[in-house]
Amino acid sequence: MTAHKVSHATGDIIAYHDRTKHHPERYARGPGGLDWANQPDPFRRFSGSPTFRLPLTGPDETPPAGVLFRASPVNSQPLTVERVSLYLELSLGLSARKEIATSSWYLRMNPSSGNLHPTEAYAILPGLPGLPGGAGVYHYAPLHHELEQRARWPQGEKPNAAEFHVGLTSITWREAWKYGERAFRYCQHDVGHALAALRFAAAALGWRVQFLPEWDDAHIARLLGLDRAEDFADAESETPELLVRVIVDETAGTILSPGTEAALEWLGRANRLSHFHVEWPVINEAIVASERMAGSANQPETPEFIAWPPPLPPACGHSAGQLIRQRRSAVDFDGVTYISRETFLAILDTTLPRTFTPPFDSWPFPPRLHLVLMVHRVTGLEPGLYLWLRTPTDTDALRRAFATNLKWEAATDSAITTPLYRLGRGDLRDFARTLSCHQNIAADGAFSLGMLARFEPVLRQRGAAAYRELFWEAGMIGQALYLAAEAAGVRGTGIGCYFDEILHRALGLSGHGWQSLYHFTVGRPVEDLRLRTGPPYPHLAAGTP
Ligand SMILES: Cc1cc2nc3c(=O)[nH]c(=O)nc-3n(C[C@H](O)[C@H](O)[C@H](O)COP(=O)(O)O)c2cc1C
Repeated sequence: MTAHKVSHATGDIIAYHDRTKHHPERYARGPGGLDWANQPDPFRRFSGSPTFRLPLTGPDETPPAGVLFRASPVNSQPLTVERVSLYLELSLGLSARKEIATSSWYLRMNPSSGNLHPTEAYAILPGLPGLPGGAGVYHYAPLHHELEQRARWPQGEKPNAAEFHVGLTSITWREAWKYGERAFRYCQHDVGHALAALRFAAAALGWRVQFLPEWDDAHIARLLGLDRAEDFADAESETPELLVRVIVDETAGTILSPGTEAALEWLGRANRLSHFHVEWPVINEAIVASERMAGSANQPETPEFIAWPPPLPPACGHSAGQLIRQRRSAVDFDGVTYISRETFLAILDTTLPRTFTPPFDSWPFPPRLHLVLMVHRVTGLEPGLYLWLRTPTDTDALRRAFATNLKWEAATDSAITTPLYRLGRGDLRDFARTLSCHQNIAADGAFSLGMLARFEPVLRQRGAAAYRELFWEAGMIGQALYLAAEAAGVRGTGIGCYFDEILHRALGLSGHGWQSLYHFTVGRPVEDLRLRTGPPYPHLAAGTP
């Protein structure tokens, strides 16, 4: 790409970002109402692909949940079909079935804005005993916990049991059906959540995950068969997002490099997810502008692993599998429960990048997002506005960018070194509610937050593809917060609906140097007793087709 095209794409993606901001007097353009009869199917299938039902695991033998939050010497589980099955279940499988009156729906291990699940996943597997299709590209179909074989690969001389790969894609229409133009942002959050979910599930098996930024969109599309127009002729297309390497054996394995796509034969055709489609041209423009192109901007940067003090995993007696399976979004909070300062810090601590520590050891870039916290109910911390600085590198830039009346007081005693600053004192419950599109969940928990990203400088430096990266990092932070909240006995919820400029104005920010990309809230949940919650896979019970 020429320099001119690069800056053009960056301008386009910033324009997309601006036009998809919600304002109190004007929400981003959406469909206005929901056409329920036309809701996209949340489960893609490939008809004509050979299908392999994965074995659902028996008793939970995963290690204690602490492995999710620190570098652990867990013994790596060998690569078998059973372990791949557990891996896909714990990362992207179903977590529960919800029911009210005559309707029912499924939840998954990875959250999704509106539970619409635009993210699809493909596993690129070596030949494994018990995998009849042999080496190839497999679409993961979570409803029946199945692999659908999309491509057959030549069998290697000896099976590579050291690693496999997972590719993620987005079907933006699923999200745009409900959210219109802002949907592209939500798809990117969801990819970030799924990426962290892949990393956390790997930790439960003693595996690691490495995001491979050198895989540009065109090569991912070729690897996964997304560019095969004939297989998507009547179906919604999928946008390539990212490829990860799942490392089973650290001492062996080779990185799959772009250009090594090796399909011998392609199998199956994608199903159509809804009858009609409403076009949202700005989403297509955002996809094009933020495409990851082959070239040097895809190289990982040196991630900053700051020598933070040892992690403070929240005390939790669950196994890793149990904790991952019980993750849910709170729909309401009780508005009274306080959490302790130690719990608060332990939850935030899981968002710091550390070597060999999930999920950010899989992330090949320095941290670019910080947390602006509205603390409501934390014992030992005065209610008010706080900043959790995920890298000290940005301290000076933020001090210059923030309004001068913000205080920057050290907010913890000297016994604990944490990157927490108090910017101001006060009851921010009404502010947080208004900021989050008037949602009570932002005010009724212990705290809520906005994720503030170094924005335009990153886009100018790395190109418009970094727009997606910033949202992926936000989604990863969200996934860490979800699991850390569960481990601490409370619950979280991602908040995609917020008024962007209200937070910026409160901090004194102007221009595009810093932008809030995602919000989150944590507190004591109140269940909706009208809903019944059941196990995720009753339809796979013995004897069910
Ligand atoms: C990117 C993103 C944005 C979300 N935004 C909101 C929101 O604004 N308000 C809300 O109540 N829930 C929000 N959620 C929570 C989803 O509704 C929830 O993840 C989904 O219903 C699935 O439920 P689960 O998380 O319990 O699996 C969001 C989730 C994600 C991942």
